[in-house]
Parts: sequence; C-alpha cells; structure tokens
Amino acid sequence: MKTGCCLSEHQCKIGVLVSGRGTNLQSLIDASREGRMAAEVSVVVSNRANAPALDRAKKAGIPGFVVNAVKGETKEAFEKQIGEIFNRHGVNLVVLAGFMRIVSPWLISRFKNRIINIHPALLPSFPGLSAQKQALEYGVRLSGCTVHFVDEGCDTGPIILQTAVPVLDTDTVESLSERILKEEHKLLPKAVDLLAKNKVKVTGRRVEILP
Ligand code: GAR
Repeated sequence: MKTGCCLSEHQCKIGVLVSGRGTNLQSLIDASREGRMAAEVSVVVSNRANAPALDRAKKAGIPGFVVNAVKGETKEAFEKQIGEIFNRHGVNLVVLAGFMRIVSPWLISRFKNRIINIHPALLPSFPGLSAQKQALEYGVRLSGCTVHFVDEGCDTGPIILQTAVPVLDTDTVESLSERILKEEHKLLPKAVDLLAKNKVKVTGRRVEILP
C-alpha cells in the first residue's frame, strides 16, 4: 500500500495539532513558504489557549483554534471538534507537533495512515514524556528524533524517518534537547514532503521510502 497523504490531483493540506511553543510548527510553515515542502499548513489546533504556537499561526496568517478538553467529556467528543475543524479546512494530513495528548482510535481511523508525530528520541527507545531526560538518565551515547505514523499506542506506530545525534558527557537535558530539536526542524518537513509526494509505502510495520 502506498500512503500518500494527498492523491496527486489534490494539494496536501496539513492540520497541525500543538500544545506548546510551536517551533516544529514554525519549521513546517517556513519549509512550505520557502518551497522546501510540497504541502501547506491549512489550520492549527491547540488544546491549550496560551500555547505560543497559536501566535506563530496568527503571525503567518494561518487559522488557529483552541479545543479544550472538558472534564467528564469523552476523548471522542473532544476529537470530533478537531475533526470538524480539519474537515472545514480540507485537511488531508495531520501532524502532531508537540501535541501532548494521546490520540484516540476515533481520530486515527478517521485519518488512517495520515497522522504523523515527531518524537524527541530514537524510538522505540524512550517513548512518552521527557524523552531527552530518559535518554540522559539511561546513559545512551546516541539519541535523536523520530517521525512516525500514529497508531493506538504511545509512540508505537511505524517509523518513517529518524535522525541520530550524539549524547555528550557534558550534556544537560537542555543541551541535548536543543541538539535534537535542530534535527527535528529538518526531519519533520522532510517527512511531510515525502508523504505529500506519495513516496511513503507502508507494509505492516515496515515503511519504505520510494525514490
Ligand atoms: C518537541 O521536542 C517534540 O518532539 C516534543 O515536544 C517538543 C515540542 O516542541 N514532542 C513530544 O515529546 C511528544 N511525545 P515545539 O512545540 O517547539 O515544536
């Protein structure tokens, strides 16, 4: 199966889910506008009203929305609001860029093989929160970042691209995070570009990048 986010006659429109500062969102906006990525950021949705990522969207003239998770409401009800926003903006690829919530099977089935996530470690090592801290505490000599499809697990979906970075003896969580983040900003637009160009083939867990 070939998994392009966008069949060739359609433009690739990304819906980006964020929770925080949005530097990865910025890398997508910049790559799109500089012609390095064959997709455009159509809409940004945050689960936090004060996320600086929303200011980045506003500055770029991209619609931004806040969808609050209401206590007692199901995850599906929360995600249906996100799904409606994505539908209205013609989204055909969803990117989790620092979105600190686990996506439910409802949204995953709605965008089958069209939701990707960037994670600051070489998966399957160090999934979940504080991946850079986990890597430092474990004592690995290499860490990095991973772009992967989102499935029902926590950072468990098929891996699309990875970049390794060294872990130095002198590293703190901050210095390692910064080194990894620089690579995230290259890796995420690259993965989106490949998907937009239908160059990603998924077979079970295996992902092949087509020439
Ligand atoms: C990034 O390092 C991203 O990999 C990480 O959050 C940061 C968001 O930064 N995501 C996760 O840890 C998801 N498990 P940003 O808001 O500046 O893009």
